[in-house]
Amino acid sequence: MPSIDVCFSPELLHLYDLKGKAVVAVDILRATSTMVTAFAQGAANIIPVMHLEDCQRLAAAEGCLTAAERDGIKADGFDFGNSPFSYMEADVEGKTIAITTTNGTRAIILSESAEEIIIGSFLNLKTVAEHLAALQLDVIVVCAGWKGMFNLEDTLFAGALAEQLQGQFTLENDAALAALHLYETAKGDLYAYLQASSHVQRLKRLDITKDVQFCLQHNEYDVLPVWDNGKLVDLKVNQSVA
Ligand code: MLT
Repeated sequence: MPSIDVCFSPELLHLYDLKGKAVVAVDILRATSTMVTAFAQGAANIIPVMHLEDCQRLAAAEGCLTAAERDGIKADGFDFGNSPFSYMEADVEGKTIAITTTNGTRAIILSESAEEIIIGSFLNLKTVAEHLAALQLDVIVVCAGWKGMFNLEDTLFAGALAEQLQGQFTLENDAALAALHLYETAKGDLYAYLQASSHVQRLKRLDITKDVQFCLQHNEYDVLPVWDNGKLVDLKVNQSVA
């Protein structure tokens, strides 16, 4: 039986061997929730990059759209920030978007040695779980955290995924067990549970609240973004990938 493990921060990734494993990269508030929403709005490709300059270089070279956020704030001179709502209000049908965020894009790029990288969020939780059950690879949930530190919302997602896969996957160690217990404690009202959490407070100071409520919705989209040679594509649309 395959196993599920949880890496609470990209700073801990050196402790994990990703080879031959499926990584589920998660940044609930807000990067991976926003990526899933962009694909649900018809985006063709998303290119996660580390730096603002990389985004601008790609736009100049390939004419793609750009998205950039730092410390929760949209970076000047880019088409989008990191709110899922901005993709609902724009026409991204068939478009390619280069994106860089404070934590989420870094967690994805640092997971490159994995067999497969899947983009996870509460919005596509069931779709991710079904894909992992079919894949039958050991799973590591890589939480983006905040600047190397643990965060609650990504860990809650890891717990929700562990709950979905119970009976089909073993819990590899205490990180997975703790995540499951945390989710079972909080699942009755995630929004209320997270009110005191650091990033919810940070976003609230930026007057960003509806993004939080939206990103905690379960199974809004049957979207499955996966890493494909330096970019993300929706496997639900591109069955030919991987
Ligand atoms: C991140 O990548 O750190 C987050 O998604 C930040 C945010 O947009 O709130």
